[in-house]
Amino acid sequence: MENKKIAVEELHLGLVKTPPTEAEIVKYLMDAKSDLAKVKNIYDAICVNNATKAIEELTKQVEISREIRLDATELRIRSERVLGLLIESMPSKKKANRQLSNGSADRSGGFIIDSPEATFPTLKELGVRKDEANRCRKLSRVQEETFEAILTDVRLEVATRKRKTLSVTALVNAVRQLEKGKSESLFSPLIKPSDNWNFAQVKYGRIDEQDSETETWGYIPGELYANCFWYYVKPNDLVVAPMAGSGQVCRVYEARQEWMGKHVYDFDIKMFDLNPRGQYKDLITQHDLIKSFPVANPDYIVMDIPYYGMVAQQYSNKSEDLANMSLEDWQIAMARIAKNCATAQKTGTLCTVISPNYRDVANGLIVMVTDIIRSLWESAGYILHDKAYSSRRIQQNQSPHMARMNNKAKANRIMLTDITEILTFRRV
Ligand SMILES: C[S@@+](CC[C@H](N)C(=O)[O-])C[C@H]1O[C@@H](n2cnc3c(N)ncnc32)[C@H](O)[C@@H]1O
Repeated sequence: MENKKIAVEELHLGLVKTPPTEAEIVKYLMDAKSDLAKVKNIYDAICVNNATKAIEELTKQVEISREIRLDATELRIRSERVLGLLIESMPSKKKANRQLSNGSADRSGGFIIDSPEATFPTLKELGVRKDEANRCRKLSRVQEETFEAILTDVRLEVATRKRKTLSVTALVNAVRQLEKGKSESLFSPLIKPSDNWNFAQVKYGRIDEQDSETETWGYIPGELYANCFWYYVKPNDLVVAPMAGSGQVCRVYEARQEWMGKHVYDFDIKMFDLNPRGQYKDLITQHDLIKSFPVANPDYIVMDIPYYGMVAQQYSNKSEDLANMSLEDWQIAMARIAKNCATAQKTGTLCTVISPNYRDVANGLIVMVTDIIRSLWESAGYILHDKAYSSRRIQQNQSPHMARMNNKAKANRIMLTDITEILTFRRV
């Protein structure tokens, strides 16, 4: 840890003449992050804090992306909080020396005292200035959950240029506002904190011509798009929905004030579908995704595919409509779609495919659709990046029809499918 600190500080002090590259700075950051996770005592904490300060300083002196600059500041703040926690657990000098003379403690507040004659050093002796120590203490008094939420919040405000700097003062002020109840609740309840994306009450229900009261199972709630955007889309990204259908994706984007809360940012959405329909029809370009991908370099693709075998003839009677295909043809078509997406996307960008599995209670057929999708996308040049789950809410309304279906499923020993999987792949 000490050597690394010296290497970074040499750069910082200009002793190393060649300015570091972006890749080198990212490496310093990764090393410092891993050192921070291993901090055992105040000496380690001071060492890591010095390294993070030096790296942050470096990011100000070279041409580097804003994101990496923010990463460096965030890491320096995190290291200050860890240092603050250790400072707060330090015994007073009097108490510490009493413990030492009793021989009752050789470890306190993360201190490790090796020699019997040792006395606890003061912060000044450790090279920590009073104002720095106070800043660290302030951070350490913020509860971990609040600290994480506020840090995300303030960083996003800086990334979206709503705030100038990410700093301890900004964080501490935001915490104060929150405690005074002046701050709005941090995040919308529509955004799920875990991979369980279930919505008992649906705000963004179906918007196409179908009767939204009676048929909701084959239709994802718009909340899924909101969560996809929240977790996978950055400001100004180019987002493509190549199976936009009736344009729910656009409706959810237009209502982003409601679920982004005070974190609102813009991005560009382009919509396509084999069968454009509904109120957003004019904004959706007719396109067959099996033939090609309609736009170059999308940062994010999101597609709610026709659920294999469940919606035949629902959108059209076209043979190129995925909903109307046999399993064999559907697999060939989906393989082409995966390749088309991969050809259009750059390394590191994301592609989300939303689908449940398929079970036919009447004839006993079970198709693990999401496993097929995963293998097709992996063969096309993606890796699975993330996965979330959402209920299709088929059991929500207990109608006589549902009761009959439930009994049939139990009698035939074939479960109904309730879960939709939201599979997100990263282009490698
Ligand atoms: C489950 S729906 C998507 C509904 C969408 N979430 C909405 O807001 O309406 C699947 C869509 O895939 C479209 N589709 C089927 N085959 C296609 C193909 N070959 N190319 C592009 N879109 C296709 C259908 O027209 C349908 O709109």
